[in-house]
Amino acid sequence: MARIIGGVATSHVPAIGAALDNGKAGEPYWQPVFAGYEASKRWIAEQKPDVVILVYNDHASAFSLELIPTFAIGGADTFAPADEGWGRRPVPVVKGHPELAWHLAERLILDEFDMTIVNRMDVDHGLTVPLSLMFGQPAEWPCKVIPLAVNVVQYPPPTGNRCFRLGQALRRAVEAYPEDLKVVVFGTGGMSHQLQGPRAGLINREFDTAFLDRLVSDPEAQAAVPHLEYVREAGSEGIELVMWLIMRGALDAKVVERHRFYHVPASNTAVGHLILENA
Ligand SMILES: [Fe+2]
Repeated sequence: MARIIGGVATSHVPAIGAALDNGKAGEPYWQPVFAGYEASKRWIAEQKPDVVILVYNDHASAFSLELIPTFAIGGADTFAPADEGWGRRPVPVVKGHPELAWHLAERLILDEFDMTIVNRMDVDHGLTVPLSLMFGQPAEWPCKVIPLAVNVVQYPPPTGNRCFRLGQALRRAVEAYPEDLKVVVFGTGGMSHQLQGPRAGLINREFDTAFLDRLVSDPEAQAAVPHLEYVREAGSEGIELVMWLIMRGALDAKVVERHRFYHVPASNTAVGHLILENA
């Protein structure tokens, strides 16, 4: 059967992708950011997952205010990097796993999570930056990737609790897949940041640290935190953190924290990162 061997949480700051793509990763501003992922790159190279289920949000690249799925799963063979206004990122085309994706869609929908099924979609920095951080700049991504997009752009996003329960259902669905596959779930976005308004540039290290601690050791409590607290404490874009609860829900109640990294600033956000394994 397929099994989830671990989880990765990471910010997906677009400027990180631009820094890599433009050869600036070694510059003093960016070097500490990429240094925080060196151990993670070694970890994932050792784990050799067959499939990554990558939870992220689209930033008006594939969806828009005309179409806002709360949860969407990508069933296509391939997903091209999106053109977000300055050309497509020079990263490999993402190869999907349609058989597993369709199995997950079936299981999740019959488990009463109303997934939108997406069969053609370009993927933006929300998906490609985490791949770059974990795998570097290969000619081909070393595993299949199933995009799982969450609406955290237009109110109302799903609650943290709904995300956590979706993660639990995702695990049940993965484990019902007959083929032996090693799966890693990525939860991306965050941490504290606000891109507009009088509080633009907001960073809340205390909230971020408490979130990381609770995500690891008491995710049920974190799942109960309402939207308003994220927005008030972590800024308007800090709500992206609910996506990390999908990853966490897909793991055991008790996990081992293999790696943690927290860095301010990258662009105008706090970068947070965890590697978790089932205990
Ligand atoms: Fe984002």
